[in-house]
Amino acid sequence: MIETIQWTNAGVVMIDQTRLPSEEVYVTCKDYRHVAEAIRSMVIRGAPAIGVAAAMGIALGMQHAESAAEFDQIANTLAGTRPTAVNLFWAIDRMRRVYAGLAGRPLAEIRARLIAEAQQIKLEDIAINEGIGRNGAPLIPDGKTVLTHCNAGALATAGYGTALGVIRAAIAAGKKIDVFADETRPLLQGSRLTIWELQQDNIPATLITDNMAGHFLHSGRIGCVVVGADRIAANGDVANKVGTYSVAVLAKENGVPFYVAAPVSTLDLKLESGSDIPIEQRPASEVTHVFGTRLAPEGTAVENPAFDVTPNRYVAAIITERGVARQPYRESLARLAG
Ligand code: MRU
Repeated sequence: MIETIQWTNAGVVMIDQTRLPSEEVYVTCKDYRHVAEAIRSMVIRGAPAIGVAAAMGIALGMQHAESAAEFDQIANTLAGTRPTAVNLFWAIDRMRRVYAGLAGRPLAEIRARLIAEAQQIKLEDIAINEGIGRNGAPLIPDGKTVLTHCNAGALATAGYGTALGVIRAAIAAGKKIDVFADETRPLLQGSRLTIWELQQDNIPATLITDNMAGHFLHSGRIGCVVVGADRIAANGDVANKVGTYSVAVLAKENGVPFYVAAPVSTLDLKLESGSDIPIEQRPASEVTHVFGTRLAPEGTAVENPAFDVTPNRYVAAIITERGVARQPYRESLARLAG
């Protein structure tokens, strides 16, 4: 299995997702600011993966801290990296609770406990994804193609993946399926990461551009859509990589079920609806340029929201490690969140 992120004696090691698939290189972050920069620049990305990175960033920061009081500064720096994926804040809050429970304890003990907690978050994430896979596999139609958007795979998590975890589990259960991956402009997580990751596992995968999704959803070939999520509001509205909303609308129009696979830590039940979810705006250069080559004229006005919100009416089910939620989501998600 691909190692997205690891805690080592030399620092936090991540596979550099900005350079895949042309180069498989690893970055070693030796201090928490470096981890924050890796999250911001998307060396590591995907909601659960950036949660694990933030937890390890806190543990790393505290290894070099001169006093326990530096915790807040470290946690705030990591919290300031990317605003949409709630898993980032979930992981930071979990680390904060551990830290708060150790008030007055020697710094060496605080450091050791924070490392252990960050490693535990990573281990749990893999197990959670396997649970999502088990719950989602029965929903996948046999003998058909699954369409996905962005990368919600091992690379976006500590391992196994959410949407790609469901696909892996369906294949492990004997289903004969293949995958269509939207290339996912502007940063091409679909073509660069999803296709690469599926090839590593010999899962048949076909690349399409984002604007081909409607054509194939209409063709009868696609049995279902499965995507990940960055934040899910109490009413079941889902924030995910920009372009997800268009896919969901096209899926409903063509009678294709649209499924969201995400851990319970992606639920943000404090938020009434998707309109409360903060949407990250990324640099214009991601749209005007591809890998450093300018495609749009100088002076082009650009919008670059990294995520969009799919209203719950397009979502056939939300697959979590605790079970599958369906409409009405306000009740079903509250039940799963327990
Ligand atoms: O901007 P990214 O690449 O971090 O966006 C990732 C996504 O939108 C994923 O679909 C989502 O985080 C779920 S990952 C299991």
